[in-house]
Amino acid sequence: MFKAPRGTVDILPGEQAYWRYIEEKAETVCRLYGYQRVDTPAFEDAGLFTRSVGEGTDIVNKEMYIFKDRSDNELALRPEGTASVCRAYLEHGMDNLPQPVKLYYFADIFRYERPQAGRYRQHHQFGCEAIGEASPMLDAEVIQMALEFFKSLGMTQFTLQLNSIGCKQCRPDYLQKLKEYYAPLAPGLCDDCRARIVKNPLRLLDCKKPGCQAAAEAAPKSSEYLCEDCRDHFDALKTYMEALKIEYSINHRLVRGLDYYTKTVFEVQPLEGGSQSALGGGGRYDDLIGELGGKPTPAIGFATGLERIVLNLKDQGIEVPEQKKPAVFMACMGNSAKIVALKTASDLREAGISVIVAAGDRSLKAQLRQANSVGATYAVIIGDDEIKEGMVTLRNMVTSDQQVVDPEELKRILGTQE
Ligand code: HAM
Repeated sequence: MFKAPRGTVDILPGEQAYWRYIEEKAETVCRLYGYQRVDTPAFEDAGLFTRSVGEGTDIVNKEMYIFKDRSDNELALRPEGTASVCRAYLEHGMDNLPQPVKLYYFADIFRYERPQAGRYRQHHQFGCEAIGEASPMLDAEVIQMALEFFKSLGMTQFTLQLNSIGCKQCRPDYLQKLKEYYAPLAPGLCDDCRARIVKNPLRLLDCKKPGCQAAAEAAPKSSEYLCEDCRDHFDALKTYMEALKIEYSINHRLVRGLDYYTKTVFEVQPLEGGSQSALGGGGRYDDLIGELGGKPTPAIGFATGLERIVLNLKDQGIEVPEQKKPAVFMACMGNSAKIVALKTASDLREAGISVIVAAGDRSLKAQLRQANSVGATYAVIIGDDEIKEGMVTLRNMVTSDQQVVDPEELKRILGTQE
């Protein structure tokens, strides 16, 4: 027997109510903040991600699903959504539109990670990107939008963590300070961290290994090495956050796992669960569009993993609206009844009434049991007696009341119930 590949899950019908709920809330918040939907391909040129996410990152080095197609093109299943949206922004000349261009997406994302609760090899993100504006006002608005989204789902148990990791001007100095600080500590660090001192010093700060915590805690802080522009930006953002009464904590170790970030970075963390289980994260990426061949274009965005939201909703006991049940279950006995059942069902559906027809030859009792289990409000029963009289029996599945009615009447009776 085949099984779903390791790290992937089937989202079964019983789970779909959570997913629809999250998508609806996401769409509402996007409408309120003026974002428009964009969909991009599930795979792209591998180089798009290598260049944007960064050669030194775990995502590119260890987690990307890369393959050659039959024409020898090197492609990758998208390991994140931002690079694809930026590629689409450039490819379709969206830089000629009034800026910022505000886009949102739902996308399946592929990362070859070690599967565990809330961490999969295929997951789904809701993300938004605001491209073409440098003002920290936009940072505040994107962060607010992310938080409003979680709140609109009924979630309350989360915190916002904020940091600034500087820009091309000030980051090299900071990285140099980090290297100098870490060099004498190298023998006590994990293998990954020893390599990071040379390859990607920023990532030293978010190592999760117990032996590396003390060093990371006492490391120089990026916010203390910001250039004037980055410092002004960060200060202005904090002022806006206070004006909007958004609570946050500054986390000097928040650096994010993708290389394209500049200035503001942020994460939404559940109160329980630690940094492995961020509900969402994002930040500014003012250099990315330029690095992808466009003119320099500042941008900021955010993404959240839907699987983690579902887990969180369940943990918090947050109930979601049930999906609509079918209005009618059509039960029939005998061959002539089958034809009448199919025709009656078509008529009802044309009138917008949902119908499940019992196909096959099960007993009436078995068919009514099925009507119950699919949650139908009514059963329409058609047997020899009904056919003889040109009528149908309408059974209310909640009260078990039955009445014999003209099929023409059905639409009127049921139409007012839906
Ligand atoms: P990210 O932090 O890598 O950011 O992923 C965003 C969110 O996706 C995470 O906070 C988490 O909720 C979820 N997630 C990530 N990996 C997994 C996984 N293996 N299994 C389940 N859920 C996962 C980005 O991808 C950036 N593109 C976000 C962004 C948008 N930055 C600017 N714009």
